[in-house]
Amino acid sequence: MAGQAATPATTASERFRDLVGAAPEGLWRAPGRVNLIGEHTDYNFGLALPFAIDRATVVAARRRQDNLVRALSCTLESQAIASLDDIAGKAPSYFEPWARFPFGVIWAMARAGAAVPGLDIVIASDVPIGGGLSSSAALSIAVAIAVNDIAAAGLSKAEIARAGQQAESEVAGLPCGLMDQLAVLEGQAGAAVLIDFLSLQTEQVPLGLGPLVVINTRVEHANAAGAYADRRNACEEAARELGVPSLRQATLEQVEDKLAGELRKRARHVVTEDGRVVEAAACLRNGQPIGDLLVASHASLRNDYEVSCAELDLAVDVALGSGADGARLTGAGFGGCAISVGATAEDLVTAMSGAFARAGFPQPEVFAVAPTDGAGRLA
Ligand code: GLA
Repeated sequence: MAGQAATPATTASERFRDLVGAAPEGLWRAPGRVNLIGEHTDYNFGLALPFAIDRATVVAARRRQDNLVRALSCTLESQAIASLDDIAGKAPSYFEPWARFPFGVIWAMARAGAAVPGLDIVIASDVPIGGGLSSSAALSIAVAIAVNDIAAAGLSKAEIARAGQQAESEVAGLPCGLMDQLAVLEGQAGAAVLIDFLSLQTEQVPLGLGPLVVINTRVEHANAAGAYADRRNACEEAARELGVPSLRQATLEQVEDKLAGELRKRARHVVTEDGRVVEAAACLRNGQPIGDLLVASHASLRNDYEVSCAELDLAVDVALGSGADGARLTGAGFGGCAISVGATAEDLVTAMSGAFARAGFPQPEVFAVAPTDGAGRLA
């Protein structure tokens, strides 16, 4: 591809030929995602409004004649090999962190009844790793749809999403909900996906908000998985105290009257955030701005859910001071990315750079994103 920039698709297919000495059976793509609003609601059976972005992971794959699965990450220049027996015995947790996603999703798909053959898999991506844009769901879902096709397993999107979730929670150790996997699978160009985690129904909502820009703080929280699990446990405890199946069934009055301290704060975030998602979806359908809802979501995540950090708060403040209509942290928090709506990357980049330098923080990465189609086969 002389003269053209390498894309994940060209990288995956060229590196596959180098590694295997043959062409892949196909190329499968799964995008990252930005969650517009509805944070930490998925495992509480609430609502969220994410969109798939124009950054993706591409997998080149081909069946092998033996029972080995060999995976190469071009981003990390790292190769991992496991037998299907090791994978079935849940050996993936003995592998280095990145390989838990491909091996974990194969383990979950085999458990769901897929007859997975030996495979060569080459992975290339331009989703920032560990940045809150679901690089892990992009990886596991790209592998899952490749395996689903090659093994003719016939798993539905919901089953594939669950396999991705099981890989993340049972093998990689983050007890996540289903938002990332469903956003990656159900995204559509120009739209966000309104997901109801109680019914698992999805609805495409057109996104006409002007420029969408990600600010990647590059901060990685040392114990994000532990802090995430603590939040989830607190929500489940709050629901038990209120006598409801999940916080989806709780009202703000119940939360304020019957809970105290930390549980009240955690539950108040979840209940008010569900309300903001409903309002945001209605605004989008009517062509109205949602900036204030994004700002309120960030404040709730900072004050009540306590998952923000100084770098994310600064990114949000600088975006709002540079012409954005709204901004908030996106994803689990504890570092990672913020999303800004209504200002261009050019509007933001100089102000972010100056403010982060003055605060003594590492330089953030600022880039535009566009809502794109969800995961699928490329070739
Ligand atoms: C991570 C998890 C998701 C979701 C978000 C927070 O991205 O993987 O399931 O809980 O955090 O909204």
